Amino acid sequence: MVVANRLPVDFTVDDDGGVSWQRSPGGLVTALEPVMQKADGAWVGWSGAPDLAHEPFEADDMLLVPVTLSRSEIERYYEGFSNDTLWPLYHDVISPPTYHRQWWDAYRRVNQRFAEAAAAQAAEGGVVWVHDYQLQLVPKMLRDLRPDLRIGFFDHIPFPPVELFQQLPWRKQIVEGLLGADLVGFQRGGDASNFVRAVRRLTEHTTRGPIISITNEAGGPGRHVRAAAFPISIDSQRFDQLARQPEIQARAKEIRTDLGDPDVMMLGVDRLDYTKGIRHRIKAYGELLQDGRLDVEHATLVQVASPSRENVGAYQDLREHVEILVGRINGEFGELGHSAIHYLHHSYPAEEMAALYLAADVMLVTSLRDGMNLVAKEYIAARSDEQGVLVLSEFTGAADELAPGPLLVNPHDIDGMKDIIAAAATMDPREQRRRMRRLRRKVMADDVSKWSESFLGVLTAMPHRTTYV
Ligand code: G6P
Repeated sequence: MVVANRLPVDFTVDDDGGVSWQRSPGGLVTALEPVMQKADGAWVGWSGAPDLAHEPFEADDMLLVPVTLSRSEIERYYEGFSNDTLWPLYHDVISPPTYHRQWWDAYRRVNQRFAEAAAAQAAEGGVVWVHDYQLQLVPKMLRDLRPDLRIGFFDHIPFPPVELFQQLPWRKQIVEGLLGADLVGFQRGGDASNFVRAVRRLTEHTTRGPIISITNEAGGPGRHVRAAAFPISIDSQRFDQLARQPEIQARAKEIRTDLGDPDVMMLGVDRLDYTKGIRHRIKAYGELLQDGRLDVEHATLVQVASPSRENVGAYQDLREHVEILVGRINGEFGELGHSAIHYLHHSYPAEEMAALYLAADVMLVTSLRDGMNLVAKEYIAARSDEQGVLVLSEFTGAADELAPGPLLVNPHDIDGMKDIIAAAATMDPREQRRRMRRLRRKVMADDVSKWSESFLGVLTAMPHRTTYV
């Protein structure tokens, strides 16, 4: 069973009250859907709409178990505590986190509801895999309700250094919540060690390498929890195969024609999120035009910025800043028939994404902090032609895994980033091939099903309800 904030579908309520659904966005869904379809399992999650109560139902070969959230819970648990407290805190406080006690109360209440829904559905001795920062209290709550279960937790975003984490007024409860799991997985080794350090600093439990020993307060037998890195992958075969289809290849050509057949097409693809370094990237690009190192007749930047968390103030501010910056650069450097930046505030289906990846000479991933960044991996998977250059921020989990191969950048260093973008724009095709081959060896071997198999393999091999004295 999977427990995640979102179900892999979004519901829409029509005017006549009828309910329909469609696939929902986000890396988590992309990563887990194929695994669950094979596993004959259930998925507990929120429908994405307020006050929508729905019976469990079958979709895409999974049993989907919707959890209802009221409008005020969406504000406090989802937009508030998850995305205006935890999200900025876990991403190096790029935006200042807000701490509200009412948000915390809602977070606890909603986590309890998810735990109860999972407890009601799980088979005796079953395996439950809880996902991401929205549900960090669920492992302990679920263990209290169902001690027979084997519980795994995976954190898709960074786990911050304890010096930042300890700002959180409810830091101890979060750590204890996570320690309800048998296995706590992270994207990078550094995230796992940050967590173990937080356990040492904030609790009485003892640690030995990646193993945490939980003492039972009643003085009875305790148990062990393992914290380890399981870097997530993508459905690489799917992107590889999509990009080999003649229709997608024709669409990639059409995109380039529509853009005025530039010599160099650069591409950014992100949720419109302040962690993604979109402003830094656009600033660097604008300065390259200003300096005459790039010009709009020969180069263009396509920036896909998919709408995200639009009720959260920091996201509204970001949208305004990005759109003002794009407008200014286009006004200053654009010419009739040649825009400097093509800014698209939409999400696109995988087919269109594959065509964009195939069309792009340079892929710009310049996050200020990113758990992994799946777009970088999708770009590589789509490039079976072994062409294209990946510019990748050092602050992504993907950089830990993929280097050498990408051109690494520090997005805070605008001059350094300009030099790297200029080098990417003029890279010799043989050098592109050498790098892309290396990247594809890694990405094509690491399919997402291997990721989940390896996590579940470690979880199920752990001695259950270990006792120690
Ligand atoms: C990140 C998080 C996911 C989340 C996704 C989309 O990838 O790790 O948990 O689902 O962003 O964000 P949203 O707030 O729309 O669910």
